[in-house]
Amino acid sequence: MLINDDTLGLFPFQPEDSDQYRDWVNKEEFARLLGRSLPVSKTEHEGWYHSIVKSHSSVVFAVKRLSDGLYLGNVWLHNIHWVNRNAELRILLGAEGLQGKGYGTRACRLLLRFAFEKLGLHKVYLYVSAVNPRAGRAFEKAGFRKEGTLKDEFFIDGKFVDVERMGVLGTEFRSS
Ligand SMILES: CC(C)(COP(=O)(O)OP(=O)(O)OC[C@H]1O[C@@H](n2cnc3c(N)ncnc32)[C@H](O)[C@@H]1OP(=O)(O)O)[C@@H](O)C(=O)NCCC(=O)NCCS
Repeated sequence: MLINDDTLGLFPFQPEDSDQYRDWVNKEEFARLLGRSLPVSKTEHEGWYHSIVKSHSSVVFAVKRLSDGLYLGNVWLHNIHWVNRNAELRILLGAEGLQGKGYGTRACRLLLRFAFEKLGLHKVYLYVSAVNPRAGRAFEKAGFRKEGTLKDEFFIDGKFVDVERMGVLGTEFRSS
């Protein structure tokens, strides 16, 4: 385990969790929230898995519940920029029936601790669509604030929808 609070830990993303993760990505309810319109094949997924675990510009973690080791999903830093010292947060917690219990907020806060304390990043940002108020609220609780709106950025369920960009600085996170 790399970092934890009293409930969750961030662990390396191991091959044994990868198939479960693809199943979640391909579920309709999650695919639409992630802005994906095409299913991910096994071959595409395996290619993605091998590239992301080797990448120097991404760090991906499996989020696990400490009480029973349950795999809840992944949270990761994408497009880490080592000069600007920023990165994009992405998250998918797909475990059935466990939304709204604070796990998303905790997982984001753990990733922010990792980003600011271990990697020395200055800022973490993300993109969240207007059809995903649950995620927006979890991000707000984790410390992110709105920076701007991208008009009609995603095409979801036959409509163009706005996307919010949110961000948090290390200095803001440490004082929150
Ligand atoms: C987004 C996600 C990480 C949130 O995880 P979670 O464990 O459900 O989040 P939390 O329980 O920490 O917080 C959710 C908050 O949203 C609120 N919420 C739920 N549905 C809501 C809605 N329709 N409108 C507004 N708020 C809502 C909850 O009440 C809770 O806030 P509260 O604690 O103030 O009551 C998780 O649901 C997920 O992985 N979803 C699928 C993938 C995804 O959307 N990723 C983000 C793409 S940008």
